[in-house]
Amino acid sequence: MAATDLERFSNEEKRNLSLGGHVGFDSLPDQLVSKSVAQGFSFNILCVGETGIGKSTLMNTLFNTTFETEEASHYEYAVRLRPRTYDLQESNVHLKLTIVDAVGFGDQINKDESYRPIVEYIDTQFENYLQEELKIRRSLFNYHDTRIHVCLYFITPTGHSLKSLDLVTMKKLDSKVNIIPIIAKADTISKSELHKFKIKIMSELVSNGVQIYQFPTDDDAVAEINSVMNAHLPFAVVGSTEEVKVGNKMVRARQYPWGVVQVENESHCDFVKLREMLIRVNMEDLREQTHARHYELYRRCKLEEMGFKDTDPDNQPFSLQETYETKRKEFLCELQKKEEEMRQMFVNKVKETESELKEKERDLHEKFEHLKRIHQEEKRKVEEKRRELEEEMNAFNRRKVAVETLQCQSLQATSQQPLKKDKDKKNFFSLPSSCSITSGRYVN
Ligand code: GTP
Ligand code: MG
Repeated sequence: MAATDLERFSNEEKRNLSLGGHVGFDSLPDQLVSKSVAQGFSFNILCVGETGIGKSTLMNTLFNTTFETEEASHYEYAVRLRPRTYDLQESNVHLKLTIVDAVGFGDQINKDESYRPIVEYIDTQFENYLQEELKIRRSLFNYHDTRIHVCLYFITPTGHSLKSLDLVTMKKLDSKVNIIPIIAKADTISKSELHKFKIKIMSELVSNGVQIYQFPTDDDAVAEINSVMNAHLPFAVVGSTEEVKVGNKMVRARQYPWGVVQVENESHCDFVKLREMLIRVNMEDLREQTHARHYELYRRCKLEEMGFKDTDPDNQPFSLQETYETKRKEFLCELQKKEEEMRQMFVNKVKETESELKEKERDLHEKFEHLKRIHQEEKRKVEEKRRELEEEMNAFNRRKVAVETLQCQSLQATSQQPLKKDKDKKNFFSLPSSCSITSGRYVN
C-alpha cells in the first residue's frame, strides 16, 4: 500500500454501524474467561517482615489452609529469599501460588544491606521473564511466571513509628513491586494507639517519598470500595488458624484470658479488608500492574543499558535491527582493539624476556672469564713452585753425586795406603766447623 493511501486510511473517521441481527462476537469476553480459566493463574506474594512477626500464620489464615512452615532462626548471616509454590484450586479455578519469605530479615547486627537480596530476587524474576521474551522460540503461554505481584510488608506493632530499616527497604522496593504495608499482630496494640500509629506510618511514608500500592479507582465497579480501603491503609491484621467457639459458631480467633480476638470480625482487625482487597477485588490489578508498570520499567532500563533505543539522536524511529548492527560493529571494533593490545603486550613481553636473557648471559660470561683468570694464575703459581722444586732436586742430586764421588775416591785411597788411611779418613771427616751433613744433605 502506498504511503498516501495509508495516511488516508488512518485519518478516516470510524463510523458506527448497527447490525441487522445477532452475529455472536458478544461472546468474546466469555471466550476469554474460559481460555484463562483453562490456562490457570499464577500469583506470587513476597512476605517481608522480621522473624516471628506472623508471616506464615497470616498466609495460612488468608488462604484458609496450612502451608509448609519452617520457623526461621534468629542467627541468619544475611537475608535469604525462600520461595515455595503450591497448586490451589477453588471451584474450577487453578491458582499456582508462590509465597516467598524473606528469611532472617531484621536479624543482622548490621542491616545496611538487608534490602539487597530482596531487590536482587525481584530483579532476577524480571530478568528470567525478559530472557524468555527475547528468545526466538519463546513459550510465554505456559511459562511459570515468578515475578512478584505483591509485597506484604509486615510492620512491627510498636505504636511509635516506622524503623529506618522499614523505610529504607520500602523505598528500595517501591519501584519494583506493589507494596501493601500491614501492621502485624494488631491485637497487641490498643484501638486509640492503633489509630495514631496508622496516621504516623502514612505520614512517614509520604514524607520519605515511599510509593505504596493504591487500590485502583478507575474502574467504576470497584472505585468506591477501593477508595474507601485506600483510606484504611496500612491494614492492621491478626492471624490465627485456631478455631474458637463464639456463640454457636466456630470462628478463627486468638483466645486470651480476657477475651477472644476474632480474625474475621471487622471491628477487631482489618483482616477481612486485606483479604477483600488482595484476593477478591484486586488480584488481577496487582498482576497487571506488575507487568505494565514494574516489569516495563525493568525492561526499559535493561534494554537501554544494552544500548537499545526507540529513537535515534534526530528523534527518528530506530529499528532493533539497526541497533543490533551498530552494537555488533562497536563490539567487533572493541574486539579488534583488544586483540591488537594483546598482541602488542605479547611482543613487549617477548622483548623484555629476551633482553633479560641477554643480560644473564653477559653476567655468566663475565663470571666465566673471571674464573678462568683465577685458574690461570693458580696454574702459573703451581708451575713456578714445581720449577723451584725441580731446581732444588737437581741441586740435591748434584751434591749427592759429589759426595758419592768423594766417598769413592777416599775408599780407593784407603785400599792403597792402609797406614795413611786413618789419617786421611780423619781429615776427610773433619770438615770445617761451619759444615755438617744432615740427613744425607750437605748444608753450609
Ligand atoms: P518466621 O517464618 O520464623 O520468620 O516467623 P513468621 O513471621 O512466619 O511468624 P509465625 O507465623 O510463625 O508466628 C510466630 C508467632 O507469632 C506464633 O507463635 C504465632 O502464633 C504468633 N502470631 C502469629 N500471628 C499473630 C497475631 O496476629 N497476633 C499475635 N498476638 N500473635 C501472632
Ligand atoms: Mg514463617
